[in-house]
Amino acid sequence: MTIEQYNIVIIGAGPGGYTAGIRAAMKGARVAVIEARDLGGVCLNRGCIPSKALIASAVQYQKMKHADQFGISLAAPPVYDWMAMRARKDKIVSTLVGGIGQLFKSHGVMHYQGFGRINDPNHVTVVSENGEEIRLRTDSIIIATGSRPINIPAFPIDGHRILSSDHLLELEHLPESILIIGAGVIGCEWAFMLSLLDVKVHMVELLDRALPMEDKHCSSLIARELKKLKIDLHTGTKVEGISPGEAGIQARLSDGKVIDANQALVSVGRAYNVEDIGLDEIGVERNPNGSVKTGPDMRTSIPNIYAIGDVRGEILLAYTATHDGAVAVDNCLGEQREKNYLGWPSVIFTHPEVGAVGLKEHEAAEQYDVAIGKFPLRALGKAHAENEIAGEVKVIGDKKSDKLLGVHAVGVHAAEIIHVAALAIRRELTVSQLGDQIFAHPVVSESIMEAAHDLHGMSVHLAKKR
Ligand code: NAI
Repeated sequence: MTIEQYNIVIIGAGPGGYTAGIRAAMKGARVAVIEARDLGGVCLNRGCIPSKALIASAVQYQKMKHADQFGISLAAPPVYDWMAMRARKDKIVSTLVGGIGQLFKSHGVMHYQGFGRINDPNHVTVVSENGEEIRLRTDSIIIATGSRPINIPAFPIDGHRILSSDHLLELEHLPESILIIGAGVIGCEWAFMLSLLDVKVHMVELLDRALPMEDKHCSSLIARELKKLKIDLHTGTKVEGISPGEAGIQARLSDGKVIDANQALVSVGRAYNVEDIGLDEIGVERNPNGSVKTGPDMRTSIPNIYAIGDVRGEILLAYTATHDGAVAVDNCLGEQREKNYLGWPSVIFTHPEVGAVGLKEHEAAEQYDVAIGKFPLRALGKAHAENEIAGEVKVIGDKKSDKLLGVHAVGVHAAEIIHVAALAIRRELTVSQLGDQIFAHPVVSESIMEAAHDLHGMSVHLAKKR
């Protein structure tokens, strides 16, 4: 068996692992990244990027359907071609996957195709698809194996009638109707996308609202938009079971109702990829939910083994994995660094989008005497120009110190504009300092400035409050 020698071996080439690999190489380390499937991981191949490519197609189709609102008349109603949309998505993905390969080459990151298994704190074996094994010797190991859609026994994913988001991306044709189980991030993004593509969508959510992890105000604004699209949302309800039905599937709900649809999407959370990588054999400690336990420096219970991203089970997002990866690499190379999630934004590509940062109102109210400012997009010139006036921005501050605590936006480009607020929270600015920033006109981010001014009763574009 060949033995290769590295400073850092990274298992998994998602947005945590591949960026950590490049960063480590930039800092002069000899680094290897092991990936069993495709470079870019879930985010690039089955998550963030392909879904956003399809969402862009769906939004474009919807805009064309309403072209008359922009003063354009079409000779015939627009027709979409799902397979052409998929082909566009696949091209984007393959371009970006190729880009990571190029980056690896240019920075001298060694890429091993195969499944990585930790033998001991200094050795990892790469098992390739044809069973060949290569043994790597290393000073440090970073586990970046990510997560996968969770499977629930009451509705087992079979890839035909009961799907995960991975299957939806590869459908040959879209169903006429779908039941989405779980109105979290994936459920809501797909509900809007499919509905914009004329699919009848039913949603069932266990908790009392759509997007239950977001500020209540965002949830209610999104629920209003779901309603406008005639998406049938059942909250505080459980799917008891699914059986084959005339249309495809029949779901029995906990409130006694029955839903018939062609297919079901299960989007009820994710499971951590911790199996078969040697964790238990060498005694890497786990959290109660099975994810890998680390300190804020990303070190596991074995000091030269680190874990980053989804597999840690803290925040399951591509960009927090990237942050974790940077922290882990610096520590592998002898620096002392801890994660700092202050001001991490949350973005959801519904239609309109959600962008949020900092404390939610109920969380802020537990610690502070809060003041709230709000600004609706219908009062904003740029939102009218884009014909996208749904949504509102809410700014939360501490009455006493004026500290900026949270910003929650629903509206066009909310996922972009929220970064103004994210920077302000990370740099610990006050609400006045945020409002005092000079925003160009006309831009959608002005809504953040206006909401900040409204918190002090000073938004010049809102009517006088009685
Ligand atoms: P999630 O945790 O966001 O939502 C799952 C939802 O399913 C929850 O609201 C939960 O209450 C509900 N649920 C659980 N069991 C249920 C049941 N038996 N019946 C009905 N509802 C049930 O998980 P999701 O949507 O699967 O997303 C997974 C991860 O991927 C998330 O952590 C998310 O952060 C990440 N993601 C992020 C995106 C973004 O940042 N834009 C896009 C897509 C995914």
